[in-house]
Amino acid sequence: MKHEWSNRLTFILAAVGSAVGLGNIWKFPYITGEYGGGVFIFAYLICICLIGIPIMLTEIALGRRGKQSPVNTILQLSQMSGAHPAWSIVGWSGMAAGCLILSYYSVIAGEVMAYSFRASSGAFVHQSVDGIKGILTNLTSDPEKLLAWHTIFMGLTILSVSRGVKGGIEKTVSFLMPALFVLLILLVIYAMGSGGFTQALDFMFTPDVDKFFYARNDYGEYLMDASGEKVFTWKPMMVAMGHAFFTLSLGMGAIMMYGSYLNRHVSIGQMTLTIVLLDTAVALLAGLAIFPLVFANGLNPAAGPGLIFETLPLAFGSMSAGTFIGTLFFVLLFFAALSSAISLIEPTVAWLIETKGIRRIKATVWTGLSVWFIGLATIFSITGTTVGDIVENIFGDVELKSDILNYNLFQIIDFITASIMLPVGGLLIAVFAGWVMDRDSTEREFSFRSPYLYQVWYVMVRYVSPLLVALVFLNIIGIVNF
Ligand code: PFF
Repeated sequence: MKHEWSNRLTFILAAVGSAVGLGNIWKFPYITGEYGGGVFIFAYLICICLIGIPIMLTEIALGRRGKQSPVNTILQLSQMSGAHPAWSIVGWSGMAAGCLILSYYSVIAGEVMAYSFRASSGAFVHQSVDGIKGILTNLTSDPEKLLAWHTIFMGLTILSVSRGVKGGIEKTVSFLMPALFVLLILLVIYAMGSGGFTQALDFMFTPDVDKFFYARNDYGEYLMDASGEKVFTWKPMMVAMGHAFFTLSLGMGAIMMYGSYLNRHVSIGQMTLTIVLLDTAVALLAGLAIFPLVFANGLNPAAGPGLIFETLPLAFGSMSAGTFIGTLFFVLLFFAALSSAISLIEPTVAWLIETKGIRRIKATVWTGLSVWFIGLATIFSITGTTVGDIVENIFGDVELKSDILNYNLFQIIDFITASIMLPVGGLLIAVFAGWVMDRDSTEREFSFRSPYLYQVWYVMVRYVSPLLVALVFLNIIGIVNF
């Protein structure tokens, strides 16, 4: 008998558990900072509405219809629609993207675990900005520490997934998500009094088109071409769109997988709206907690992946009960990361169980070990010896450099997965549901109360979402310019 969620609340919790994670609290603030604030957030919100919502509806519906891992779900649905089995490529690329994302996700989650211990030992109390920066460098310049935490995090992920969806995920997320939400609100209230709140609001919600569309170097200066004009770039748009997929766990089959455990009588529309609203609220709250501290302490909003590890400890260090609140925050963030990590490998594990007939525990251990190994690439590309201001990375030579891109291996993996593989996966899922499957079966699966709702979904997945994704890509490769 195929597993189903105990009730609709556990589905919501698990899906929100997958969606809310490091993407909201670690990644969203730092990419918003790097790409100039207001316009980036605006572009991200547009992508959530016009691409994220329709594709989430679609993934849940396809999963519930196919009732298997994404590869086999798509294989079965293509067979039913008389389409070519090659459509299952969506599932394959999803499994690859999931494992690649988890490989670096686990390293960052390891840093979060390390910070829970730093916080609880009182390491942040009354620290100066330099002191806090030193704590971060101390961790990221030591490959052994990062490796140890990465190993522990992957071990816990393997443990949770091997216990099965019901035993592992449902229990963890049901107390964790509400607690994280409350704590974030407390942090926003603290940040309001930090002296940087107005500047933060201005940064997050006032559009500065130049900062978004013109390329800048690591110091925030605009790049100029030979004729002295600023260099136009679509890359931030691509990152904003990629982040909409990443934060909602779309484009790689994670939500499709969770949809396959969903009961027939649940309204997919209501579920989707709840998940999207909660996920977006958490990201915006994270921004409102972090940016005021950035400005109040004269930090750089474009500091990159270290941003939350520099800002929040400063706040914890200077608030009363900061040791307790800081510890609680990093522990909750660790759980949020764990519930996302689980959904990143579940499609691969479920596929191995279905097709190779192996036990869940064996499937999880093999997948987890492979991901652990790929994670070494991230560790060696972010750690190294500090020489003056520059960190010499062990994998420092593996870089993608151009005027606009300046990436190490971790950033390359992140860019290829989040900004390319997830949107392409989402595009194919939308085209499959809108053009390949027959209307009857999608209409029955949604069973919307009003026929207009179905019509809106249909137009979105057939035209709007795929065209928007395609347009961003065509612009990037310079085929259209618009
Ligand atoms: N949505 C997660 C986050 O924002 O942290 C990351 C993630 C989980 C991405 C699952 C993709 C996925 F399939």
